[in-house]
Amino acid sequence: MFVKHLTLASFRNYETAEVAFEPGINLLVGVNGQGKTNLVEAVRYLSSLNSHRVSGYLPLIKNREPSAIIRAMVSSEARDVYLELELNREGKNKARVNKADLPRVRDIVGIIQSVTFAPEDIDIVRKDPTNRRAFIDELVVQYRPRMAGVYGDYERVLKQRNALLKSARATKTTGSALSTLDAWDASLVQYGTEIISARIGLINMLQPHLFAAYQKIATSNNEPGMLYRSSLVGEKVLTGFDDDNEDESLEFLTDSDRESIAALFTQRLAAVRPKELERGLTLVGPQRDDLVLMLGDLPAKGYASHGETWSYALALRLASVDLLRTETKTGDPVLILDDVFAELDSGRRLRLAELVADNEQVLITAAVAEDVPEILNATRFSVKQAVVERV
Ligand SMILES: Nc1ncnc2c1ncn2[C@@H]1O[C@H](COP(=O)(O)OP(=O)(O)OP(=O)(O)O)[C@@H](O)[C@H]1O
Ligand SMILES: [Mg+2]
Repeated sequence: MFVKHLTLASFRNYETAEVAFEPGINLLVGVNGQGKTNLVEAVRYLSSLNSHRVSGYLPLIKNREPSAIIRAMVSSEARDVYLELELNREGKNKARVNKADLPRVRDIVGIIQSVTFAPEDIDIVRKDPTNRRAFIDELVVQYRPRMAGVYGDYERVLKQRNALLKSARATKTTGSALSTLDAWDASLVQYGTEIISARIGLINMLQPHLFAAYQKIATSNNEPGMLYRSSLVGEKVLTGFDDDNEDESLEFLTDSDRESIAALFTQRLAAVRPKELERGLTLVGPQRDDLVLMLGDLPAKGYASHGETWSYALALRLASVDLLRTETKTGDPVLILDDVFAELDSGRRLRLAELVADNEQVLITAAVAEDVPEILNATRFSVKQAVVERV
C-alpha cells in the first residue's frame, strides 16, 4: 500500500500542508527543526495512533490551536481509502473513513499499515520493558487491527481493578466485600489472555524474519532470538516482585494456546491476591511482561555492542515489514525511516538502502541528502519552516 496524498492542518509546526507522495522512495530533506519528522509522524499516527516521540496526542496539536487534522488518501489493494483524524484539545477526537464517522477513534488503526524505524528504536533493545512491549503491541495491532479494541478493554479493566485494590488497601476491606474483585478478575484474564496469546503468536511468527533480517545487516554471526518472559510463570512474583524492573527469575512462555494461558493467569491471580491487596496494585498480566531479546546465548540488553544494538533494532523493524508483507493481504506496509542514515556508516547505509529500495513505499527523512545512498533518490521534497515542496 502507499500514501498518495497527505493533508495537515494545525499539526505540530504545520499550519497547513498538502503533500502528494509517490509510490516508491520519497526523500524529505531539510535542515534541523523544519518539520521532516513531524510530517512522517503524522503518517505513523494515522496508521497506529502511536508516535515515536510522545505517548499522548496533545503535543501533536499546533501550539495555541484547538485542534489538529491529519488526512490521507491511501491506495490499498488497488482501492483508494480516504482517512481523516481530528485531534481536539477539548472534546473527543474523531476518526473518519471515506467521510463516514467511525464509532471509535481506535477503529482507524491498521487501515494504513506502516513500520517506522527511528534512532529512538535502539531503546527497544537497551532500555526497560515498556519499550519492548510498545514494539510488539504496535506490531500486533498492525497485524490484527481488531486487537486495538482488546488493548483498550484491558487498559480499562486494569485501571478499575487497580482503583479497587487501592481502596481495599486503604479501607482494609476483606472477605465478601472483595467479591467485586472476582468479577474484574474474569475480565482481566479474558482480555489479558488475548493480549499475551497474540504477543506470543506474533513473536513466534516474527522469529524467522528477524533471523533473516539480522543476517543481512549485521556483520557478526550471532543469532538473534526472542523470548516472552511472563509474570504468569516463575516464582519471584510471589515474594518480592517490584515495579517494572526486569525480573531475572521469571520464566518464559512459549505456547500461545489461550486455554493454558487463561488457566495460568487465573491460578496466578489467586496466588498473588494477598500481595496485591497489600500493594494496592495488579501484579500480574501483560503489563508486567517482557520480550527478552537474545543475541547468541546472551541477552542483547546489557551485552550487545553499540553497533549490534543498532543492527538489532533495525532488524526488528525490517522483520516487521517482512512479516506484514507476507502475512497480510494488503501488500507492503509503508516504511518510514526517520533520520537513520546519518547514524550509519557508509557500508550499512548501502546495505539498508538495498534492503528497502523495492518496498512499495518508503518515506525517508534526512538533514543531509548526501547521507542517503543514490539509489534512494527517486522523489525528493524539501522541508523548510513547515513548507513542503517537491524538488
Ligand atoms: N505542537 C507544536 N506546535 C508548534 N510547533 C511544534 C509543535 N511540536 C513541535 N513543534 C516544532 O516543530 C519543530 C521540529 O520539527 P521536526 O521534529 O519535524 O524537525 P526535523 O525537520 O525532523 O528536524 P531534525 O532534522 O532535527 O530531526 C520544532 O521547531 C518544534 O518546536
Ligand atoms: Mg527529525
